[in-house]
Amino acid sequence: MSISHEVILQPAGGRFRCEEGQTVLEAALAAGYLLPHSCRAGTCGLCALPLVAGSLEAVSPPPAEAFVPPAGSCLTCQSRPRSDLTLDAPQMGAEPGQRTVTAGARVVAVERPSADVAVLALQVPPAAGFRFQAGQYIDILLRDGARRSYSMANAPDDEGLIELHVRHIPGGRFSEHAYTRLKPRDLLRVEGPFGSFGLRPGDAPIILLASGTGYAPIASMLKTHGDEIRRRGATLYWGGRRLQDLYAVSSAEAWEAAHPGIRFVPVLSEPDNGWQGRTGLVHQAVLDDHPRLDVHEVYACGNPLMIDAARQSFCRDRGLPEHRFFSDAFLPR
Ligand code: FES
Repeated sequence: MSISHEVILQPAGGRFRCEEGQTVLEAALAAGYLLPHSCRAGTCGLCALPLVAGSLEAVSPPPAEAFVPPAGSCLTCQSRPRSDLTLDAPQMGAEPGQRTVTAGARVVAVERPSADVAVLALQVPPAAGFRFQAGQYIDILLRDGARRSYSMANAPDDEGLIELHVRHIPGGRFSEHAYTRLKPRDLLRVEGPFGSFGLRPGDAPIILLASGTGYAPIASMLKTHGDEIRRRGATLYWGGRRLQDLYAVSSAEAWEAAHPGIRFVPVLSEPDNGWQGRTGLVHQAVLDDHPRLDVHEVYACGNPLMIDAARQSFCRDRGLPEHRFFSDAFLPR
């Protein structure tokens, strides 16, 4: 008989059961409690929560670069309950949200709009009940147990359609396959949705900041909340090394043309010959254009180094309140 334990998230009182073999994080996500997390490998520290009561065991020997949580806290991605638990998770509500789903996804189409980006259209069977919100991501589950995270680039779709933008990393465990061999009718295994990145309600003018395939969740937000974003006024800064890195530049230009109130600023750090547009680092273009950012909200996606630089300089040098900088950073792998 398998043994399960109850986990309580205080102070709101959300509760779920953790089955034998599940980590606390896996069980929470499956139950619809989107605990903060990123790497699931014990290295980023985002999933650390204070343990109020109960006992835990580690799932495996910690990796060499393991994050060491503060005393009295645990990494929920690396811990299994040995008893019922109470965790301190003040950001979680009492009721679960959207449950994560693990399902097969059929490849519907593969486009390769540039030398190193593949745009995938996947179909999850509608009966799987997969739903997402603009800005969220899914994991592609690989045969060896590894997983790769990609943001949805389309608007939420009740029929289970998903669009992903995959940057080709030579030798990358999934991206190499996606770019070179993946074809329509192939089957992938996906789990999601995950993440809390997405447009917050309000009136603040918006900076959308993307590098490379970080454009994907921004595209989803534009497709879903285009009228709201236009009402608030927004500038989309999209950076790459060369023009081909901005693999959907015509769709971004179309947004600008069709939605007065949304401005598009492409920025190249290694510009092609004849490039007449902005050059340099994409976050620097924002700094150059905005002496102050105190009334703005910033939504940043893409390279973690760009996101760190943007967060630091926007908050330190332009007065952007920390709580109005929202980001979703993925390492291309
Ligand atoms: Fe990164 Fe747990 S999710 S350490």
